[in-house]
Amino acid sequence: MSQRPPAPLPLAKPLSTIPLLFAMRANPLSTWTRAHYEESILHGSSVIGEVCVVSDPAAIRHVLVDNVANYRKDDLQQRLLGPGLAGGLLLAEDEMWRRQRRLLAPLFTPRAVAGYKPAIAQSAQWLMARWARQRPGRTFDMAAEFSRVTLDVLERTIFPQGLGRDPSAFIHAVTDYFDTAGRVDPLDLLRLPDWLPRLGRRRSAPALAFFAEAVAAMIAKQRATMADQQEGGDRPDLLSALLSAADPETGIGLSEDEISANILTFIGAGHETTANALTWTMYLLGTHRDWRVRAEAEADALLAHSDTPSPEEAPILRAVLEEAMRLYPPAATLTRDAIGPDRVGTFDIRPGTRMVVSPWLVQRHKKLWTNPDLFDPARFLPGARDKIDRFAYLPFGAGPRICIGMGFAMQEAVILLAHVLKQFRLEPVPGHVPVPLQRVTLRPQDGMPMILRPR
Ligand code: HEM
Repeated sequence: MSQRPPAPLPLAKPLSTIPLLFAMRANPLSTWTRAHYEESILHGSSVIGEVCVVSDPAAIRHVLVDNVANYRKDDLQQRLLGPGLAGGLLLAEDEMWRRQRRLLAPLFTPRAVAGYKPAIAQSAQWLMARWARQRPGRTFDMAAEFSRVTLDVLERTIFPQGLGRDPSAFIHAVTDYFDTAGRVDPLDLLRLPDWLPRLGRRRSAPALAFFAEAVAAMIAKQRATMADQQEGGDRPDLLSALLSAADPETGIGLSEDEISANILTFIGAGHETTANALTWTMYLLGTHRDWRVRAEAEADALLAHSDTPSPEEAPILRAVLEEAMRLYPPAATLTRDAIGPDRVGTFDIRPGTRMVVSPWLVQRHKKLWTNPDLFDPARFLPGARDKIDRFAYLPFGAGPRICIGMGFAMQEAVILLAHVLKQFRLEPVPGHVPVPLQRVTLRPQDGMPMILRPR
């Protein structure tokens, strides 16, 4: 029982303008051509402007690290996500970004992450108890289940004050927001002015209104608690860090908009991504019996000693997760706009060129991987993993804008995966082939129904 992981077939040649605009809106993954999986750098000009798709590891390093000052988060990303996330860490630039990154880094040090382990295990146990109450053989949407548990993890770790709203309402709002605002609008692709109404933006208004209200309530509650307490708790948490932040030089704190954008950024970036990584991992294990058996054996052995295994103690679980994120990177495309002229590979880059570094493409690239479309976690086992070029595998990005939550996410995913594998076996629903859909994150279109059986 071993299936080829589903992916859209590469196109023989690029789509013409109108079909391209519609395909980008429907699912950007379906627009890549064979050349994108075979060429190191593709540079071209079309109705959407100059675009350079960079899949050569040295060139990626140039854009994301060596000449990073010449590239900023692109205008399309700012337009799509700005209404909710502008002013937060993901979209901030320059001094605002540096200040926020410095401020929030202490929440994600290896020590801080180790401190979250017991809380992550509690979330895992909560999920196991929830599943134990179900009838064996029931079909469940794993995408929804993992969304729920990863939000629970955030509530027990970096948001210990809670989200102040029903978690399912939050999940619903985040999914709605990503689904509406995260759809690439042809008007945005064409860089047309903001006053022209976008369908997605209108549809995302209810989710944004929900966030504004929920976030204002969280901030007010936390301010009241901090005024009562004098001293903060001994564990760092996101809200206290944001509210008590003062710039060491100026003493000025973050604005209300920055605080609110960061709360949303961390909820958005911190749970859908990890949930998707776990969802695709379970699907791939469900369709690759040999690796499922190995992963189950490791989970059994690990949990016999501790209910909070770290990624370093779990080479097989880690390799399985890393291979799942190679095939289905939760953040499928990283995009930047060039500020000044540059030379990337053999191409002259003009200011305004949109640079696309797509983990989806790079991690399935024919020049960089053997049998790129097959699931083979052995690539990531100790010994083999060191041979992978740092810039050929980028599920968390690279350079100064690398995911701040990387260590947190890996720790969380390993603990959750170990608990699930020890207690349950998830089988794919016969005949159901999930379709990878790129919105803000890469998720299975129509969820991931799987059959739940106790082991
Ligand atoms: C498997 C899980 C995750 C994946 C694959 C992932 C992926 C990424 C990627 C690729 C970036 C860089 C984007 C770019 O360069 O344009 C990023 C940035 C970011 N991620 Fe994650 N992420 C994950 C989990 C998390 C978690 C758990 C958190 C927080 C709790 C988080 C918070 C952030 C934030 C705030 C940024 C912006 C960092 C900055 O620009 O300085 N992510 N993530």
